[in-house]
Amino acid sequence: MSPASPWQNALVTGASSGLGRALTVWLTRRGVKVYAAARRTELLETLKAEAGDLVVPLKLDVSDADATFAAVAKLDAACGGLDLVVANAGVGEDTRPKKLKWESIKRMMDVNVNGATATICGVIPGMIERGHGHLAGISSLAGLMPLPMSSAYCATKAYLAMFLNSLRLDLEPLGISVSSIHPGFVKTESTAKNKPETMPFLMEADDAVDRIGKALLRREKVFTFPWQLSSLIGFASSLPRPIQAAALRKLR
Ligand SMILES: NC(=O)c1ccc[n+]([C@@H]2O[C@H](COP(=O)([O-])OP(=O)(O)OC[C@H]3O[C@@H](n4cnc5c(N)ncnc54)[C@H](OP(=O)(O)O)[C@@H]3O)[C@@H](O)[C@H]2O)c1
Repeated sequence: MSPASPWQNALVTGASSGLGRALTVWLTRRGVKVYAAARRTELLETLKAEAGDLVVPLKLDVSDADATFAAVAKLDAACGGLDLVVANAGVGEDTRPKKLKWESIKRMMDVNVNGATATICGVIPGMIERGHGHLAGISSLAGLMPLPMSSAYCATKAYLAMFLNSLRLDLEPLGISVSSIHPGFVKTESTAKNKPETMPFLMEADDAVDRIGKALLRREKVFTFPWQLSSLIGFASSLPRPIQAAALRKLR
């Protein structure tokens, strides 16, 4: 029997695969009712069949930010209050300059920036009224360091971290926790296309989610992991800029 959690009703976006799916399972094992949102509802139905009736599938395309804001606000009112919202839905695409595709960059901004922001903002009025709640966003270690061929992805993840970290200043005094989560490489659909040797300290999704779930229980404000990659990034960030740039270019 898994330990109980402080949450009753959670919303997890991007729940049809990878981290979002594993986090949904992790939460339901702790008795949390999870509104599991994504576009591929057939995968959400399979998840419900596997994880049980605490999973409530929700069709949501977060790239439509206005509709997402409205859907989250409506859900918050209808379910009696969401006490955990995890903006997890995200896309990562290669942006090497010679093959630059505007659709790719726009998609990352629509999903990772506008979609995540609308997801979080939709529940803020309700949480303020109730005087409690927990907001979390799945950023990335890539949001803490410039990386080659990943300009738009790094920028969208840096945005999400800064949004959450600034939001915390306003919401913490009102009883609302805000967590910015920064995973390293995790085996999911989105990394399946990468060569394993390009992903140091690669984690299984269940392992990564166990670490994320426990960090959320501790109400960590900023959670970076695994420590090996996170320390490397910390070290690289402390290097003089020309040396840092030379080292980062070698990653191409
Ligand atoms: N895997 C890693 O190494 C890693 C590392 C750091 C951070 N992250 C971040 O972790 C999060 C989850 O990624 P993952 O690795 O688990 O990838 P994944 O398996 O590809 O899952 C991405 C999820 O996002 C959803 N999504 C994509 N576009 C959407 C849209 N327009 N509307 C609603 N949902 C949408 C997908 O659902 P549908 O397609 O069904 O809509 C899917 O459930 C992302 O924010 C990613 O940037 C991942």
